[in-house]
Amino acid sequence: MKNTYNLRSTAAKAITQVLEQGQSLSTVIPELQQKVSDKDKALLQELCFGVMRVLPQLQWFINKLMEKPLKGKQRIFHYLIMVGIYQLIYTRIPAHAALAETVNGAISLKRPQLKGLINGVLRQFQRQQQELVEQANNHISQHLHPKWLLERIQKAYPQNWQDIICANNQKPPMWLRVNQQHHTASEYLALLEKANIEAELDINHTSAIRLLNPCPVNSLPGFDKGWVTIQDRSAQGCAELLTPCNDESILDLCAAPGGKTTHILEIAPRSEVLAVDIDEQRIKRVKENLQRLNLHAAVKVGDGRLPHEWANNEQFDRILLDAPCSATGVIRRHPDIKWLRRNEDIDQLVMLQAEILDAIWPYLKKNGTLVYATCSILPQENSEQIKSFMKRHTDAALSETSTLENPGTQIIPEIAGGDGFFYVRLTKQ
Ligand SMILES: C[S@@+](CC[C@H](N)C(=O)[O-])C[C@H]1O[C@@H](n2cnc3c(N)ncnc32)[C@H](O)[C@@H]1O
Repeated sequence: MKNTYNLRSTAAKAITQVLEQGQSLSTVIPELQQKVSDKDKALLQELCFGVMRVLPQLQWFINKLMEKPLKGKQRIFHYLIMVGIYQLIYTRIPAHAALAETVNGAISLKRPQLKGLINGVLRQFQRQQQELVEQANNHISQHLHPKWLLERIQKAYPQNWQDIICANNQKPPMWLRVNQQHHTASEYLALLEKANIEAELDINHTSAIRLLNPCPVNSLPGFDKGWVTIQDRSAQGCAELLTPCNDESILDLCAAPGGKTTHILEIAPRSEVLAVDIDEQRIKRVKENLQRLNLHAAVKVGDGRLPHEWANNEQFDRILLDAPCSATGVIRRHPDIKWLRRNEDIDQLVMLQAEILDAIWPYLKKNGTLVYATCSILPQENSEQIKSFMKRHTDAALSETSTLENPGTQIIPEIAGGDGFFYVRLTKQ
């Protein structure tokens, strides 16, 4: 039988890999996108990310519409049906096209005999769409987060947890970081205007610009020449807080894919930067990003808990530790996090962060500066982590703007603002 290309079945494959095999969309999608036409790349992304965003709602519809869930080898068709329902509710794809394409997914997945079933479920949904959507709104939580995570967010933010949940459920804004070696943010804004790309400056960060509508990177003026990088505005705060200077030795630990390594070098192009990450695959992306921006750093694969293996007994003027974390501040960018993370992961991450912090502290020079950052909004990984660190290391001092009771800056995700992030600056006395 001919294996016909079908985008909906590709989306169902990606979703299966995430929900059944625990892989992340950011690993799975780039691989699958290689087999997809340019015009379909964005749609693949929209379908997969969209399904992850509203998963409990789609699951509820399927429970209503099907007596027996599809299991085992047929599980992929369960996700194909989700892709179908998602299109009917959330996209402007004409219903007949959404239906036909989704049903044809069964052919490309080599189960043409399931076409009838998929067609039946989707048509039944279409007939009762309004009623079912209303019922779902009354019967299931509109928060669309797993219970354990919702409870943690409610506990940490009793006043404004609803704002966080609401921001998490939106599509993220697209932020640019302007390479100050080429243009100021205002100059680059003028270039965007000329290219008919609507955008606005950010008053809090010198290099940040928000696009009013996301666009492909290749349409950004000078992207291939390194004039600009895609980076959320909160993430841009890390290298700014580090205040790197030329001629200093700087360690960027947990550096891949290099968003902050390149920012450090844009601010201080003659600093000596060592970028280290444990993940060999991801470290390749650090090299690619340095190349695109024509910047230079030493890049090594290494474990942050074992700096004696890669640091050559060197001490650094500045260290940026962008620690592995729950990523609960970037759920709107990576909605699959909601279904991949488990409650018990948090304690393990907190332990790993503490181990890396303790291991790396001796590698900071006296009077040196260490910035600890995470894209988490959970206090255990952030302020609580730093409070315990301060107890263990009496030679650590917090920067002027922080107090021992409330160390660091916690940013929560905002709809038109930055991602959730935490950073703190420590100096060694
Ligand atoms: C938040 S991401 C870093 C993002 C990066 N700093 C940037 O701006 O592009 C965290 C990184 O920590 C790395 N990592 C996890 N455990 C590590 C360890 N024990 N030692 C070094 N890196 C580790 C992961 O591979 C991942 O790339």
